[in-house]
Amino acid sequence: MAFNPLNWILGFFSLDIGIDLGTANTLVFVRGKGIVINEPSWVTVERKSRRPIAVGQEAKEMAGRAPKNVLVVRPLRDGVISEFEITEEMLAYFIGKAHEQSIVPLPRPRVVIGVPTGVTEVEKRAVNDAALLAGARQVYLIEEPTASALAVGLPIDKVGGTVIVDIGGGTCEVTVFSMGGVVSSKSLRMAGDEMDAAVLQYIRNKYNVLIGERAAEQLKVKIGSAFPMKEEKTATVRGRNLVSGLPETLEVSSIEIREALSGVIDNIVQAVKETVDEIPAEMISDVMDAGICMSGGGALIHGLDERLSEELRIRCWVADDPLTCVARGAGLVLEDIEAYSHFLLQLD
Ligand SMILES: Nc1ncnc2c1ncn2[C@@H]1O[C@H](COP(=O)(O)OP(=O)(O)OP(=O)(O)O)[C@@H](O)[C@H]1O
Ligand SMILES: [Mg+2]
Repeated sequence: MAFNPLNWILGFFSLDIGIDLGTANTLVFVRGKGIVINEPSWVTVERKSRRPIAVGQEAKEMAGRAPKNVLVVRPLRDGVISEFEITEEMLAYFIGKAHEQSIVPLPRPRVVIGVPTGVTEVEKRAVNDAALLAGARQVYLIEEPTASALAVGLPIDKVGGTVIVDIGGGTCEVTVFSMGGVVSSKSLRMAGDEMDAAVLQYIRNKYNVLIGERAAEQLKVKIGSAFPMKEEKTATVRGRNLVSGLPETLEVSSIEIREALSGVIDNIVQAVKETVDEIPAEMISDVMDAGICMSGGGALIHGLDERLSEELRIRCWVADDPLTCVARGAGLVLEDIEAYSHFLLQLD
């Protein structure tokens, strides 16, 4: 990447930012400050004009409660942009909010954004253009697993295999690195959102009670698991009985939620297994030494590390603060974009 003196000078003054534009959450990292924004990737718009009403946490709170003229939108699906204009507005809002925290007017920022591995040229361009329109001076794209691995400090530059499994809202990505590059990767468009849907469906089938998407997510976070717990737990959830039409409060157990999640968890375990099976024999012993690192919010499902370790016969461990890995990795790249340029993606 050519040295650009103007960028170098502007870099001292602008709040350069790293962004994890996730299906579930958007995080913004500001150089020198750390993570300043961590909000759901949700937007509410006025149905007819499509004018934004609320962004982030405020918009998510409105889900299932908004009047008819208000549309609740999740502009990213499966890790990529599905609603371009709304994504751009959401990014502009977050970039503006990150900049607002400065008392002096600042030049437009340089922005490093994480994208899922294997995104198409069109998808890369969509992210790039949305960030430029949202106020970025220059945009750099990095594959999310690379950003996470940098944040965790995995030795992805060295000869030998390093594996990271990221389980987010929309996608589960398994990536094998060696010598700074991706040796192989598998992306499953099934992760946290599918788990929520599975919990909702389970409660509906078993109890004839319809619960909200957010209530399903809360049950998953509170008592979801992938491996038997030492002490099984229970939680209450409210919904509407589909036969009587009346509100109902249920007490459900972690055993039930584990059963509800089992299909999605089995698919994730299978995807990791298939990728690990393809690792060349020379590299597998490196992976066995270092273990497999898990990141993303889905890595926090109770016992998923144990379940994977048992099935793969390789130690699997959860990164510290797995929800912020991509944003922290993008932040690390901002420290010295030239030095990390070999990890950045090019637009054709
Ligand atoms: N403690 C927890 N236990 C289980 N799941 C959790 C926990 N905390 C968060 N999650 C789930 O993690 C998911 C969000 O993770 P994350 O923020 O890494 O996704 P994302 O980066 O927005 O999505 P993607 O990477 O697919 O674009 C949500 O499905 C959320 O319900
Ligand atoms: Mg993610």
